[in-house]
Amino acid sequence: MSAKLIKFKEAGKFEDTRFEKIHNEVFDSSQEASIIVAQEIADLIKGKQASNTHCVLGLATGSSPIKVYEELVRMHKEDGLSFANVVTFNLDEYYPMEKDNIQSYYYFMHEHLFNHVDILPEHINIPNGSVSHDDLYQYCIDYENKIKALGGLDFQLLGIGRTGHIGFNEPGSHFNSATRSITLDHITRVDAAPSFLGIDNVPRKAITMGVGTVRSAKRIVLLGWGISKAEILKETIEGEISSQVPATYLQEHDNTTFVLDKGASSELTRIKTPWLVASCEWTDELKLKAVVWLSELTNKPILKLTDKDYNDNGMSDLLGVEGTAYDLNIKMFNTLQHTITGWPGGKPNADETYRPERANPEKKRVIIFSPHPDDDVISMGGTFDRLVQQGHEVHIAYQTSGNIAVSDSEALKFAEITKALHAESETSDSIIEAINTKTGNEVDSIEVRRLKGLIRRSESLGATRYLGLNDVNVHFLDLPFYETGTIKKNNLSQPDIDIMSALIEDIKPHQIYAAGDLADPHGTHKVCLDALFASLEELKHKDYMNECWVWLYRGAWHEWESYEIEMAVPMSPDQVLRKRHAIFYHQSQKDGVMFQGDDSREFWVRVEDRNRLTAKKYNDLGLADYAAIEAFKRYHF
Ligand code: F6R
Repeated sequence: MSAKLIKFKEAGKFEDTRFEKIHNEVFDSSQEASIIVAQEIADLIKGKQASNTHCVLGLATGSSPIKVYEELVRMHKEDGLSFANVVTFNLDEYYPMEKDNIQSYYYFMHEHLFNHVDILPEHINIPNGSVSHDDLYQYCIDYENKIKALGGLDFQLLGIGRTGHIGFNEPGSHFNSATRSITLDHITRVDAAPSFLGIDNVPRKAITMGVGTVRSAKRIVLLGWGISKAEILKETIEGEISSQVPATYLQEHDNTTFVLDKGASSELTRIKTPWLVASCEWTDELKLKAVVWLSELTNKPILKLTDKDYNDNGMSDLLGVEGTAYDLNIKMFNTLQHTITGWPGGKPNADETYRPERANPEKKRVIIFSPHPDDDVISMGGTFDRLVQQGHEVHIAYQTSGNIAVSDSEALKFAEITKALHAESETSDSIIEAINTKTGNEVDSIEVRRLKGLIRRSESLGATRYLGLNDVNVHFLDLPFYETGTIKKNNLSQPDIDIMSALIEDIKPHQIYAAGDLADPHGTHKVCLDALFASLEELKHKDYMNECWVWLYRGAWHEWESYEIEMAVPMSPDQVLRKRHAIFYHQSQKDGVMFQGDDSREFWVRVEDRNRLTAKKYNDLGLADYAAIEAFKRYHF
């Protein structure tokens, strides 16, 4: 890791806007931000070493602090940072939970930090998820007293749950609460469900430090990454203090900093609607964002917005720049109008001045990268269909095998069929045996994973054949980072990037489509996108790459905001049905999808709702009324 270390301002004194009640700093990436937080912790540890005292750290688990721990481990190994004087108290643990369970926070902390640094085992404190029910009350009091006896927490690291919990202090928690057992909120259990392979396996209770315990820390840093945290962070930073959002209690702590990445900060007023906060520098993108926002706020199509609408909503300086509402409205209306095309590969022999794609070459070579074997049809099935029908050379590249999302019962069905067809088959015997004797969170054998991967392959071929694609144009990349058999994937590495680059090099595409979806609950889309970016970086100097345009679609979880869309491909009702049909080929992902996130609708329902909503938003802005729209944003490399 390397980054320019920019220390930020002191907490609690310099909030930039009247909306914000908690000091926060926004970074381009969580990587960069994590290095700075790790540096603050390291400085604290060293300061305490110099004065020969203990450094008492309150630590969190979950996805948020992982990169901070990675950097602390690096500092230990490469820069000699010692943890000999560090005493740690973890925020929480599921209850009941055994230490050796791979879902335990005990396991997590050892895997990510403690096993790799020189902390003394007797200095590690993690709530014990296996104390008996009778001893639990006293255990919690002792945990609290131990923190106090050491002089309190010098530094508390936090993440935030979508319920607004800190630690496991769920909505309803009291300002002065201490370490105790607590019942987990449904949303928290839903968020934890993927790593427990289903919500039924997620414990209902936990032991957590209290809000009072956390607040007693001398310094608090809360980490927030990604758009899935944006809403709750806005409520926490800008809302009133309320037990319904326990993190708002931090408004009363005067040495707290929230460290955010761009996605997590995206709902803050100063980021989302900066014109309400101060005078802005009006870039073209900001103008469009503001006009779309105003149209949605006033419930008026763009062409009906008046000078008064602009003046009443903090945008009078925009009129100062642009002249009248009339001029600005027409300009913005045209910008949006020009994003719409039924020719995603470019319209042959047409004037391309106001079209999102080039007319030439008439027939383009196209690669559609699909993180899992179904994102292609879910996210851009209509566009895929048009590209094939309009005669482009379309290739689909499934980046991962997707095997983890195939249920045991589905795999068993196929193994039993195989067995029936080949009575002697030893492999099917061992697969059936492995599935039937599988317990809890056990990782699948290679054979079982292979079968599950094959199921997804043949489903994908069903869909691509239905959309008229030749099998030779379908590429199964099976990127190695995915093949752990568990939710936790390996980091991206060179072999992943090499596989991506080899395909691009081979096809020399004019267009690449890829999932720009960063809200995937377990991160595979993000790694797949990082793999593409890394490979574009390697290839960008090649001549053929000058001709290559990259279009990002969003996966099942989110859609681009209207003002972000640079290509909008409308669909007729019949095309919507064709897309639905293509999605249905992915049968193992129907009827109770394993990794659903917090949305219980099936993928085809979600995506139809989403494509319909995009069309409605366009229509509400005053553009034509389509049945559905798929949306893309161009990525410049
Ligand atoms: C973890 C903890 C929780 C998490 C929160 C966010 O020890 O106490 O409050 O910080 O649930 O989880 P992630 O970071 O996984 O989004």
